[in-house]
Amino acid sequence: MLLSKIKQALVLGVAVSAALAGSAQAQEVIKIGLILPLTGPFTPIGKQVENGVKLFMATHGSTVAGKKIELIVKDDGNVADTTRRLAQELVVNDKVTYLAGFGLTPLALATAPIATQAKVPMIVMAAATAIITEQSPFIVRTSFTLPQATIPMADWAAKNKIGKVVTLVSDYGPGIDAENAFKARFASAGGSIAGELRVPLASPDFAPFLQRARDAKPDALFVFVPAGQSATFGKQFVERGMDKSGIRLIGPGDVTDDDVLNQMGDVMLGVVTTHHYSVAHPGAVNKAFVEAFTKQSGGVPNFMGVGGYDGMQLIYKAIEATKGSADGITIVNAMRGMTWESPRGPVQIDPRTRDIVQNIYVRKVEKKDGKLYNVEFSTIPMVKDPVKEAKR
Ligand code: PHB
Repeated sequence: MLLSKIKQALVLGVAVSAALAGSAQAQEVIKIGLILPLTGPFTPIGKQVENGVKLFMATHGSTVAGKKIELIVKDDGNVADTTRRLAQELVVNDKVTYLAGFGLTPLALATAPIATQAKVPMIVMAAATAIITEQSPFIVRTSFTLPQATIPMADWAAKNKIGKVVTLVSDYGPGIDAENAFKARFASAGGSIAGELRVPLASPDFAPFLQRARDAKPDALFVFVPAGQSATFGKQFVERGMDKSGIRLIGPGDVTDDDVLNQMGDVMLGVVTTHHYSVAHPGAVNKAFVEAFTKQSGGVPNFMGVGGYDGMQLIYKAIEATKGSADGITIVNAMRGMTWESPRGPVQIDPRTRDIVQNIYVRKVEKKDGKLYNVEFSTIPMVKDPVKEAKR
């Protein structure tokens, strides 16, 4: 009897120490929870980011500072409650050290409180409404902000014989950011706004809005639609005869998304936009990125793909800098001020705001070797998010 009790205790002891050894080993693995819309209408965003993340891992290995990197990918189907629940599960059950992804603004906003409560760094690789990084001190962003990409568009328009503009934006965070930034900057340069149109985000029908824009007879139509909707927008733009109306199309580069630009066709030729990434960005870093991305995924990268790639690049740099720390505050502090050469050009994590500082390029759609590209022709160097700059 006594002997069997001792035996039992021994067995238990072995089991516990095996479990402890397991957990000590587990700390040698750094887990990253990547949450993206991989089903539903915004799958193209999720796929781009996922491909960017996986490309970075494939080309830089999955061991950093002696730690094994484990990526756990989850699909939120573009439902904010799902994003939040998945983030919670990744933190509590999987014990991830990093949360990453966040395809659209509502998905990032829903998850911010989880990052704060769990003290887990949350790397926003896609969503682009300015306020996102203010929703948790654990958020660091590698995509962009709409005001950052839009202000140079207003400046270019004002200097290029565009006096009267109608704005047409998707009716949620990034669209409203784009509308506000454009309006204020363009008005201060002497331009006038002849109409402000907001199109619902879900299953948009642009046709009636395009008709109203046309009736206002502006010099240009300023458009923000999220990646994943530009092909639909382009189709309806042509169906309404807007390409023959003499009204120029301008906007942040989401509307001439590299992913679908060739599908949109020659009507896009000559469209001028401002953005932080073009697949046609010159230089060896981007050339290698585009080649490897295309080889891996079968399609070209767009600004979402580069956001995923750089998000993973940032995580790897933080793991190196902190020697694999699991402490969220230590990690975020290490990320502040980090700089690197991205396929998009030089970038920095703003030490104050945790947003990305980057060049914004003025680009024009041109045809090269039978394909359409956003060809950069002017650079505004190292632009910070203007909304947060104004709050200083
Ligand atoms: C966003 O929801 O923040 C978002 C989505 C797609 C874009 C830009 C911003 O192209």
